[in-house]
Amino acid sequence: MMLFDFDKEIDRTASSSLKWDVKEGELPMWVADMDLAVAPCITEAINRRVSHPIYGYSVVPPSWNEAYIDWWERRHGLKMQPEWMQFCTGIVPAISSIVRRVTNVGDNIAVMTPVYDIFFHSIENFGRHTVECPLGYDGEKYSLDLNELERVLSHPLTTMLILCNPHNPTGNVWTKAQLKEVASLCDAYGVTVLSDEIHCDLVQGKEYTPFLSVSRRGIACISASKAFNIAGLQSAAVVIPDPILRNKVVRGLNSDEVAEPNCFAVCATEAALRGGEKWLNELNSFIAENKRLANGKIAEMGLKAVKSDATYLVWIDCSSLGIHSDELGEFIRAKTGLYLSSGSQYRGNGERFLRMNVACPKSRLYDGLARLQTAVRMLKK
Ligand SMILES: Cc1ncc(COP(=O)(O)O)c(C=O)c1O
Repeated sequence: MMLFDFDKEIDRTASSSLKWDVKEGELPMWVADMDLAVAPCITEAINRRVSHPIYGYSVVPPSWNEAYIDWWERRHGLKMQPEWMQFCTGIVPAISSIVRRVTNVGDNIAVMTPVYDIFFHSIENFGRHTVECPLGYDGEKYSLDLNELERVLSHPLTTMLILCNPHNPTGNVWTKAQLKEVASLCDAYGVTVLSDEIHCDLVQGKEYTPFLSVSRRGIACISASKAFNIAGLQSAAVVIPDPILRNKVVRGLNSDEVAEPNCFAVCATEAALRGGEKWLNELNSFIAENKRLANGKIAEMGLKAVKSDATYLVWIDCSSLGIHSDELGEFIRAKTGLYLSSGSQYRGNGERFLRMNVACPKSRLYDGLARLQTAVRMLKK
């Protein structure tokens, strides 16, 4: 029996939600947060903090490190040390700060495309160049092309690889063997690995391997925010075993002023990692079912959902419609109110794709799929 009712509809329209900042009647299924209530243990922890009437500056207590360490050891088989870890106000602030501190203006930073679009901002806003290692695509699923990876890493100006493990938007969960190959190529060419592991607890059926379990030389950015739906609390951990690299990054995070928590960040993260496991397991079953339902309907429309083992994002191959994803996304929104992410923003072969966030009650999922079907029918006429 399910303990948590993920099908309960919650109105988010009056909650300053970025996702739901849309016109009346529109259905947003774009940005990656969930239309699902958080685990009750998180609400309880925040309520406890709220009931103390002073909201001054906060510290990061050792119990924060311990909560992450215990979770990663128990669920992911990685034993982290408390001194490897530094609090940060989010994964994106961490990536931008690390790019500024660890690489130089004019350097190349490698990414495997299509990939989470904000990586490009963190690279290009600071005068670095993005070099794309396009993932292989066989019409069903994406794969890592190690020859392509070696091509971009071996360029003398390439100094960093931003890895997305698991990968947004394709839903690939990189295997231990693949990560070992990535680590050894990066070592061979002196490239620092920054592994963004924000989606690691949203895995259905496969096993996520922490990058740090195959190499002690990289940087991992981890957080409870995506899996536990607390992104608005702005909290992440940057984990670096190597002390010299760690000192450099910690200096950067501090001087960029992104190393101190707001007064709900720590208690919410600890509550999630200490008490949220049952909720998370049920959530992953719920997401797997939503993905299965969506994939089936999408196939009936003559489109194709890419095979995915992680995230709650469905990456839809719309090649059969022969329309650029920007135009397609705008058409669907204008005609039906369904708001999806256009694939072109993720680069690589993304301009043939749309991304649909299915972390919502089934009633909303069915509504979104029906709207998509309406738009596809109009286009096919
Ligand atoms: C791969 C990836 N990294 C980072 C983020 C955002 O991280 P944060 O909210 O901690 O800055 C997202 C959000 O969708 C994401 O998909």
